[in-house]
Amino acid sequence: MMDKFVIRGGNPLLGTIKVSGAKNSALPCMAAAILTEDEVILENIPQVRDIETERKLLEAMGARVELGYGRAQHRTVIQCAVLSDPVAKYEIVKTMRASSLVLGPLIARTGMARVAMPGGCNIGGRPIDLHIKGLESMGATIAYDHGYLEARSPNEGKSPLRGAHIVFDKITVTGTEDLLMAAVLAEGETLFENCAREPEVTDLAALLIAMGAKIEGAGTSTIRVQGVSKLHGARHKINPDRIEAGTFLIAGAITGGDLKVDCCNPEHLGSLLGKLEDCGIKLDVGKDHIRVRSEGASGLKCADIATEEYPGFPTDMQAQYMALATQCDGTTTVTENIFENRFMHVQELNRMGANITVNGRTATVRGGTQLQSAAVMCSDLRASAALVLAALVADGESILDRVYHMDRGYEHLEEKLRGVGAQIRRMGEVFSKR
Ligand code: UD1
Repeated sequence: MMDKFVIRGGNPLLGTIKVSGAKNSALPCMAAAILTEDEVILENIPQVRDIETERKLLEAMGARVELGYGRAQHRTVIQCAVLSDPVAKYEIVKTMRASSLVLGPLIARTGMARVAMPGGCNIGGRPIDLHIKGLESMGATIAYDHGYLEARSPNEGKSPLRGAHIVFDKITVTGTEDLLMAAVLAEGETLFENCAREPEVTDLAALLIAMGAKIEGAGTSTIRVQGVSKLHGARHKINPDRIEAGTFLIAGAITGGDLKVDCCNPEHLGSLLGKLEDCGIKLDVGKDHIRVRSEGASGLKCADIATEEYPGFPTDMQAQYMALATQCDGTTTVTENIFENRFMHVQELNRMGANITVNGRTATVRGGTQLQSAAVMCSDLRASAALVLAALVADGESILDRVYHMDRGYEHLEEKLRGVGAQIRRMGEVFSKR
């Protein structure tokens, strides 16, 4: 049976909620272990489905991956001593598009990579043409064969990739990460321009540097890499998840709660915090925590957003922010600039009584509506988070179907929310009494 969430709205969230490690940092960092035969030890890995998928992906290539348990449950040890089968199979790639992150490190380490072409995705076309173009300028030859992309480094895979000057046509997060991992073992210098500046890129670069890579400028739009012939093992702690933190901040605000969002990095949340303050939400920002207080719907004002690359407003917070906008006084305009077709949550929010219209890349949210409980369907990771937020303030009991989308990226969500007073359970459990 597919899991469902049952959520009864109305409780303000009170207390302290902890943020896990960032899935989107953990995924490239796990792929980076391909670059060395030594052990790479990663701390603060979230226990979510995508990490499990990446484990399977690496193991199928011959890697040893130990996910910790008990007190070490967030530590993962990866050793790619031998990569007997440098292939990312379709069965895995189709469930997680970020599987294409193994392309760069595989070809850098073994001279060849066979990676299934990702299929269409719920949120727009999401091609990997920029990854491919970059590898080609580093001397790789690419062939397509039965739905697979086969890449080889120069000289039939016997010589290393060559450093190159790569200007990204468009800013891409995993594209920057993938090519960065290719460049660290290339011959000579690679100069990247128009790079993604997301904290996840910086996190990956920190790990690569700890492994012996020579990288300058990660976190800015220009990154310079001096290739080295070998990398060694390292230990690295993954950044806190800024999107999970942002989701909890909105959960606190939308329910009229008083919530301490702990173990986060407020520096990574600048644009969101600015908007929440514009909405009239009180924030006390500490070094590694943020306390959010609000009166709920009665005190919320509207503030428009437009998604942009970091440090702009993250597309991964757009759906959750829209749930908040339904509770704000006035009309909010939400513009999605990164992905086409990332408004699947709108229909479901409207089924819960929201008043949202979409015109191309722009959604108009007429706020101040009392949301009603309903049976709704999760369509992707962040859309699911928006539905959870809406259900937390809806009148009555909502049922969210297909929460496997949620499980891809939120660690123990229902337990964390229950710990601060939400009434949420997976189908089959009994509501905890507060
Ligand atoms: C990453 C994040 C995802 C987030 C997104 C944007 C991971 C695992 N996922 O996804 O959660 O929503 O960044 O912040 O980190 N594009 C191309 N050609 C390419 C690559 C991308 O045209 O070769 C386009 C995409 O279609 C999209 C835009 O570039 O319109 C940005 O995509 P990108 O930054 O690559 O997103 P991901 O790295 O897939």
